[in-house]
Amino acid sequence: MEDSLLKLKNTNTKDAFRYSYLLNKMYPYIKTVLGRSILLILLAIPLGLLDGVVAFSLRPYMDFVVNGNEAQTFELMGHTIRLQAFFIKLIPFAIIFFALVQGLLKYICNYLTEWTGNKMSNHLKIDLFRKLTSMDTKFYDINSSGLVLSRFLTDPDQASKKLIETLKSFILAAFELVALVFVLLYNSWKLAIIGVGVMAIAITPVTLIRKKIKAVSNATMVVGGDMTTNFNETFAGNKIITAYNLQGNQNRKFDGQIHKQFDLAMALTKRVGWMSPIMYFICSIGIAIVMNYGNSLILSGEMTAGSFASFVTSLLLLYKPTKSLGLTLTNLQSTFVSMARVFELFDLMPEIKNKPDAKILSNVDGGIEFSHVYFEYEKDVPVLKDFNLSVRPKETIALVGNSGGGKSTVVNLIPRFYDVKSGSITINGIDIRDYDLISLRNAISFVFQDNYLFSGSIKENILMGKPDATEDEIFNAIKLAHLDEFLGTLPDGIDTIVGERGASLSGGQRQRVAIARALVKNAPIVILDEATSALDNESEAIVQQAIDNLMENRTVFVIAHRLSTIHNADRIAVLNEGELVELGTHSELISKAGGRYKHLYEMQFGSSVEV
Ligand SMILES: Nc1ncnc2c1ncn2[C@@H]1O[C@H](COP(=O)(O)OP(=O)(O)OP(=O)(O)O)[C@@H](O)[C@H]1O
Ligand SMILES: [Mg+2]
Repeated sequence: MEDSLLKLKNTNTKDAFRYSYLLNKMYPYIKTVLGRSILLILLAIPLGLLDGVVAFSLRPYMDFVVNGNEAQTFELMGHTIRLQAFFIKLIPFAIIFFALVQGLLKYICNYLTEWTGNKMSNHLKIDLFRKLTSMDTKFYDINSSGLVLSRFLTDPDQASKKLIETLKSFILAAFELVALVFVLLYNSWKLAIIGVGVMAIAITPVTLIRKKIKAVSNATMVVGGDMTTNFNETFAGNKIITAYNLQGNQNRKFDGQIHKQFDLAMALTKRVGWMSPIMYFICSIGIAIVMNYGNSLILSGEMTAGSFASFVTSLLLLYKPTKSLGLTLTNLQSTFVSMARVFELFDLMPEIKNKPDAKILSNVDGGIEFSHVYFEYEKDVPVLKDFNLSVRPKETIALVGNSGGGKSTVVNLIPRFYDVKSGSITINGIDIRDYDLISLRNAISFVFQDNYLFSGSIKENILMGKPDATEDEIFNAIKLAHLDEFLGTLPDGIDTIVGERGASLSGGQRQRVAIARALVKNAPIVILDEATSALDNESEAIVQQAIDNLMENRTVFVIAHRLSTIHNADRIAVLNEGELVELGTHSELISKAGGRYKHLYEMQFGSSVEV
C-alpha cells in the first residue's frame, strides 16, 4: 500500500502558487454566490469613489466659500441668490446626506460580504465533511485528528470568507485610488506625478514577502493541528494521564506548542511588520517634496490655495487604499494557501470504493472463502501470509491464536475496512471487491472489543443497527442482549444519554449495547471480535446466550481469548504470526498431540482438563 495517496501533508506547498488551478477548483463554490458577489462589487465601486468626493469638494469649498467672490449670484424663481451664502446653507445638508449614503452602502456591502463568504465557506465545509466520511479506515489510521480538524476549523473560512473580504477591500481600495488620483491630476498633474510615483515605490516591498507568509502560515497550521491532537488525547486518554501522572508531560507538550505558535506569530510580525512603517516613511518623503514644490506653485500663481488643500488631502487619503491594496496581496496569498490545503483534502481518494458495475449482495447463502490472502498495513511488514480458509454457509468459525497474530485483521478484511494485498476473499463465490460496499456492509453485524457509542441515548445507539426497527425488534434485542435488567435500573431507561464515547456506561454495559445494536441489525454475517472480553464470567455466561442467539442460522466469526466462549463453534481456526496453523473442531484439535490449540487450552484450563 502506498501511504502518500491517503496522507495529508503537514505543509502542502505544491499547489499554493497555482492560482488558476485553485480558482478553477474554487469556481463551483464561487458560482453559488455569484449574483450577490457581483452586487457587492457594484456597490463597493461607489463606496470607494466617495472618499474622492470629499477631497474633490475641498477645492470649491476653499476657493468659493472660504475665499469666495461675493459678486457671484444667480437667479432662482425671481430671487437673486448669492452663491457663497447658498453654499454655506447647503453644506450641512450635504454632509448629512453624504454620511447617510455612505452608511447605507457600507451596511449593504458588509451584509453581502458576510452572506456570500459564509455561504461559500459552508458549501466547502459540507463537501469537505462528505469527503471525510467517505474516506476509508486507512485514512483515519495515518492522519492525526488535529491535522484533519484544522482543515475544517480555519482553512475553509480562509479560503472563502477571506477571499470575499479581500475582493471587497480590493475593489474599495482600487476605486478609492482611482478617485483620489483623479483629484490629484485635476488639481495639478505635475504634483500628481510626484505623489503617485512615491506611492508606487512604497508598495513594492509588499509584493516581495508572499513566500515568507506562506511558509509561516503552513507552520502555524501544523502547530495548530498538533495542539488539537493534544486536546483530543487529553480527553481520550485522561484516565491514563491521571494513572501515570502524565499531567506534567501534557502540560509541557502544550506549553511547547503555545510557545511555538508565539514564535511563529512573531516571526511573521518581524518579517511583515516593518512594511507599514517603511511605506509610511516613503510616503512622508513624498509629502515633504509635494509640500515644498506646492508652495512654490501657489506663490507663482499656478495653483490656488483651495486646489492645494484638495491635493494634499487626496494625497493623505491615498495612504489608506494604497496600504490596503498591499494587504490585499498578502491576504490573497494566505487565501490561496488555505485553498491549496482544502483541495489537497478534496483530492485524496479513498482506496476502497465501488467498482462501476458493482453487484448487490442480497442473500448470503453461499460460503465465505479466503484464498491465498496476503495483507500488510505497512509496506513490507506482512501481517497475513498465504491465509486460506473456507467457511461453510451458516457455520460458526472461531479464530484463536497469539496476540498480534492477525485475528482482527482477518475479520477486518471482510467488510473491506482494508483490501487484501493479493489473493481474494469471496462471498457466494464472488470476490467481495465486486460487491457494492453498502450492500456488503449491510450484510455484516460487527461487535468490536472496544465498542464505540455515540453521544446520544442508548436507544439511538441501538437503532444505528437498523434505523427503522420496530419497538418489538428493539425490545427483543434488549432482552436477548440481557440489557433489560440494567435498563430497568435507569430512571430514563432506554432513553438514558450515554455521554461522549459512552463514558457513563461500564465496559460490559457498552458491550451489551453493541450486541443489541448487532442483534437489531439482523445481518446474515456476524463478526464478534472479543465481544465479551469486558464481561465478568457470570455476565458472560448470560450474554453468551445472547451471542448464541445472534449466531443462530448465520455465518459467524468469533474471536475470543477465553476459550470457554468458543466451545460452541463448529470449527476453530488457529492463527500464528499471520498463518493458519490448525483448523478443526474442538475435539479434533484438543486431541492433537503437541498441537497449538491444545497448548493454548492447557495454558488456560490446566493440563488436567478432560476433553
Ligand atoms: N491499523 C494498523 N496499522 C498498522 N499495523 C497494524 C494495524 N492494526 C494491526 N496492526 C498490526 O497487525 C498485526 C496483527 O494485528 P491484529 O490486530 O490482527 O492481531 P490480533 O490477532 O487481533 O491480536 P489481539 O489478539 O491482540 O487482538 C499486529 O502486528 C499489529 O501490530
Ligand atoms: Mg484483535
